[in-house]
Formats: sequence, structure tokens, C-alpha cells
Amino acid sequence: MIEPSGQACGARVTGVDLSGELSSDLIAEIRAAWLKHRVLAFANQSMDDDALERFTIAMGGFGEDPFFDPIEGHKHIAAILREADETSPLFAESWHSDWSFLPEPPSGTCLMAVEVPPVGGDTLFADQAAAFAALPDARKAELRRLTAIHSATRGYSPDGLYGDSDQGRSMAIRPSEDALKTQTHPLVKPHSETGEEVLFCSPSYVVGIEGMGEATAMQLVLELIEWQTRDEFVYRQQWEPDMLVMWDNRIVLHRATGGYEGHRRELHRTTIAPYTP
Ligand code: SIN
Repeated sequence: MIEPSGQACGARVTGVDLSGELSSDLIAEIRAAWLKHRVLAFANQSMDDDALERFTIAMGGFGEDPFFDPIEGHKHIAAILREADETSPLFAESWHSDWSFLPEPPSGTCLMAVEVPPVGGDTLFADQAAAFAALPDARKAELRRLTAIHSATRGYSPDGLYGDSDQGRSMAIRPSEDALKTQTHPLVKPHSETGEEVLFCSPSYVVGIEGMGEATAMQLVLELIEWQTRDEFVYRQQWEPDMLVMWDNRIVLHRATGGYEGHRRELHRTTIAPYTP
């Protein structure tokens, strides 16, 4: 059963066992629901890491995961982990689309609950097709002409948020000079499967706009994110034990939230490869 959240996007899925056989009909049904709702939360799953890998392969195969060491024995799974007594800044608290600085960013991400806190730790999603569609036509035309410059530098370079000075973090983040590289993408990017026009821009990874001075570009990025994350475009995912969440990285931005001080939180994450028809 697929129950829409009643918010901007997102649906809760029950009555399916993702640890079992994934028939081609089931895979097609899940993918269609994913494209429609952008974020699917599968409740009551009893998946281990092998099952998470099988599911990710069925949804399109593994994407690249730079700057993370994988968990032992599973080279495509990263642990999103925060120990109960950890004091380093929250991971991924700023809005982003995963690895948007890659030439071909992943089409999606899967996050499986391993240990979820009794309070807080929600993940927020913002629907970027809805955010673009709600803009006035003249603004849409202006934005369609722009090309954004993406980079991982703010987070993953040696000087970045998770760089050399980031001490005491339990996650296996590996900063590198590679994070200084840049990659352009259209600011309004058609979704690779549905063709929907999407605002593909976030303050985490966009470091400039082609042909624009840095200060003007960053002012635009900050102005845009206010619009992109208005309440009417946002879905709040509350985690449950045994939940798997899969989102469409091409159409939503997401961010982590805190509020679970004193509790451990661990989720296992895979990225889904870019879509090839
Ligand atoms: C992520 O951005 O992959 C993590 C999201 C979260 O921890 O809620």
C-alpha cells in the first residue's frame, strides 16, 4: 500500500518485503512510485546490508561515493553515524542534492535505519520541480539561462567543514584535494526520466554561476534556497526502526536535522547510479 504523505512529496509504503525476491513487476512498480512521490519510506523492513545492496542494484545499480570510507565488507555502503556523546557539527545539515558536483550525479539515495533515536533526527526533503513550477514565467526564463558551478570544496576539501580541523567525528569521512574540482550543470535541469524541470542548486555545493561575479552569484544562491525550501515544498521524514527511505536525488534537496542529543543514530546509505535509458 502506498500512502502519500499529504505534504509536498513523499509516501509511506507498507505490505512489501524488500528483503525477499524483487520481481521485475515489483521493481517497475516501486520505480514508478518513486518517480511520482520523489521519496518513498518503506516501513517494517527487516533488511541487512546484503539486502540493501540487492535492493540498490535492482533500483539502478551503485553510484559513485567519493569522500566516504565504506563499512567493512560492503564497499558500496557508507554509515551515516553519530554517537550519543558526539559534539562535532551535525553531518549534512545544509540543503543539498547528493554529490551534485559529479559530472553524472547519482539518480537516487537509499538510507536504511540501523539505530534511530527516540526523538529528532528527521530528514527534510524539498521538491524542486514544485519549487520551479511555482515561479513566475519571467523568473523561470531568467533561471533557464543560467549554469551553476558545483564543487565539494565547502564540505570535503582539507579546509572544508569535514576537513582536517574536523575532529571527533565518528563517520568515516575522507577529505581530499579532489574536492576542489568544479563541475557545471544547468541551474534548471530536466529530470533524466520524466523531463520535469528542476531547480538543481544548493548552497552546499554551488560555488558560483557562470558569467556572474562571486558575490552576486552567492546572493542569488542564498535567495533561491529561501524559495526552494518554503514550507509548501517540504516533506519531513520521521524515522522509524526498520525503515528504508529511498529518494530521487534529481528532484529533491534534502538535509539532516538534530534534536537527538544523547542518543545514537546510525543509518546505512547507498547511492543509486545515474540513469541510463
Ligand atoms: C544524508 O544527507 O545523506 C544524510 C541525511 C540524514 O542523516 O538525515
